[in-house]
Amino acid sequence: MIVANWKCNGSRAMLDEWVRSYLNEKDIQLDNSCLILIAPPSVFFNELSDKISKNNINIFLCSQDIAGMTRKHTGAISGELLIEMNVDKFCIVGHSERRLFYKEDNQIIKDKVVECFQNKINPILCVGETEGENSLANTKEMIEKQLRIFENESISEGTTIAYEPVWAIGTGKTPNPKDVNEIHKFIKDVVQSLSLNSLNPKVLYGGSVSEKNAKQFFSEEFVDGALIGGASLDGASFAKIVNIKNGMK
Ligand code: PGA
Repeated sequence: MIVANWKCNGSRAMLDEWVRSYLNEKDIQLDNSCLILIAPPSVFFNELSDKISKNNINIFLCSQDIAGMTRKHTGAISGELLIEMNVDKFCIVGHSERRLFYKEDNQIIKDKVVECFQNKINPILCVGETEGENSLANTKEMIEKQLRIFENESISEGTTIAYEPVWAIGTGKTPNPKDVNEIHKFIKDVVQSLSLNSLNPKVLYGGSVSEKNAKQFFSEEFVDGALIGGASLDGASFAKIVNIKNGMK
């Protein structure tokens, strides 16, 4: 599974260019069974969805956020609205930018995850440690705390976790793929033991993934894909990463 997170980027002109360069680069000879999602700014859901279907591109739309059961306020997008916009499969929840700049804590994030479940939307929950926590060797402890929102929850089959070390997002710095693999195994074990239905979730790596380093991450046993910010804004770069994943099956 490969997810593009466009954050606050994009324009009408960019959509056309993105689709053109994605199609140009995408290798259709490969096994194309990898699930591909794009999370654009919500103002582009309709237009991007039209372009995807007109060009027969096998990509699903994903939301970057959801209001939460108790926070359906001005500016927020509820699960019901996402379904109206046909964004009914996946939603990113708890990105570190939301945790840091919008003060989203575990309680708020749990509320959002529950709203996803109630609308049959699969959450892609982002977890990860800061640089300080990493240097104090507190990574697993921090991640375990963030995953506690699944305690006593029956979670959907498609629930996905994105391991995104905060210090690797948009910095060009990446952790050692072997360390990432160990954290992914840890995440799978924790979610399995916390959730009521013992789900073993897919775990994506996110943080400065590019066409240059993607293969190293995808070669690791417990890395099920990637959540990609910067490198997803260019259709050709994103297609190259998708080709790498499809070529490794
Ligand atoms: P990046 O962003 O790929 O630009 O590091 C990843 C993310 O924030 O999800």
